[in-house]
Amino acid sequence: PPLERIPVDPFKLLHNEMAYVRESLMQLLGSSHPTLTEIASYYFQLPGKQLRPLLVLLFSRAVKGVTSGYTEKCFAFENAASKKQELDMPLSSPDVLNDWNPSMPNHSASFSTVFSMPSRAGRPPDSPASLRPYFSSQLSVLPTQLRLAQITEMIHVASLLHDDVIDLSSLRRASASAPFKFGNKLSILAGDFMLGRSSAALARLGDAEVVELIGTVIANLVEGEIMQLREQNESDKASGNAEEFALTPERWTTYLQKSYFKTASLMAKSSRAAVVLGGARPGVPEDEELKDVAYAFSRNLGIAFQLVDDLLDYSTSAELGKPGGGADLKLGLSTAPALFAWEEYPEMGPLIARKFKGDGDVEQARDLVLRSSALDRTRQLAKQYADKALEVLEHIPESDAREGLAVVAGMVIERTR
Ligand code: FPP
Ligand code: MG
Ligand code: MG
Repeated sequence: PPLERIPVDPFKLLHNEMAYVRESLMQLLGSSHPTLTEIASYYFQLPGKQLRPLLVLLFSRAVKGVTSGYTEKCFAFENAASKKQELDMPLSSPDVLNDWNPSMPNHSASFSTVFSMPSRAGRPPDSPASLRPYFSSQLSVLPTQLRLAQITEMIHVASLLHDDVIDLSSLRRASASAPFKFGNKLSILAGDFMLGRSSAALARLGDAEVVELIGTVIANLVEGEIMQLREQNESDKASGNAEEFALTPERWTTYLQKSYFKTASLMAKSSRAAVVLGGARPGVPEDEELKDVAYAFSRNLGIAFQLVDDLLDYSTSAELGKPGGGADLKLGLSTAPALFAWEEYPEMGPLIARKFKGDGDVEQARDLVLRSSALDRTRQLAKQYADKALEVLEHIPESDAREGLAVVAGMVIERTR
């Protein structure tokens, strides 16, 4: 009988790269204010799924040597020591990006040079040790792609810092949320700080197409959140007129659009950016196709991910490490499970119309969701998106990374937290 093949474990496949991404992230978060650094790094020190950097690295690996400009990209790093060094340099180093930084060991030196031009010549020589992680054969992706993976996770965590303020959430990654621990003001500011740092790191990648993609992601996150706020604040006139308040196809469209903006956009555009950094040249049809595959795969995966997130919201907080137990209902939000339950139980309509604000509404809505086939159907819909993602993958060459991406699609559907 044929030997049963063990599927690729994407985390093992990119173990060294992921370790590098995690370990050097803190360097990007150093600041002149220890409290700021503490809050900014708080969520990174708690166990997260790290799905977004994993996607970036998997696509980086999947198109290695496939894009028309790959050799040129490698050449740039093999031959330009200054380019490698610049990328490797902490953003909190004493130069124009950070005039004065007491958390850096040589801060007094940098303080004295605040008003002079940063001296490139004064930087430490290109020591082989500092570059080893990039060039050891153990790392399979380009330095720019490693940095993109970090930027992606920073933007995600910045959005969580803001999200936990907006959602009044006290729990994240099985610990006290940042706003609960440090307060709303500092959490917002730490998120802003991280966006600033990620923008600076983004600029250093030196690719305008990538800057545009990631800049748009940040705008999309806000657009998704605004769509959701609008839903929460929707005038309650509908509640007085249940006849007119119907489950229309537009309601589903709006929900899925919101899911794209708040979740899938970051995954889709950062995956696409990984392919750009891997040497996909604008206008070359084969390269454009690779970019489209990365975008389409992660867009579908992102929507699947959010659908599962919305169904897991009905699990307990002990299982999730975040509020759960119908937390979205308490926020007045009708996600996929509530909409599916509405299809089976018309009495869901008025509850949705008044945003579950009446006495016992949350409990009743939760009960309807659990009694109906809403959670099953939500998972099925997520599965359809994951299947679409898998279909798209057929358009890139077979590789261990491509198999890893397929495994990730399965993980997203099966996850329980
Ligand atoms: C989590 O969703 C939140 C997001 C996916 C995006 C939040 C975006 C903002 C707050 C806009 C500001 C953006 C930036 C970049 C600062 P959720 O609340 O449904 O999930 P949860 O259960 O994990 O809290
Ligand atoms: Mg939210
Ligand atoms: Mg939230």
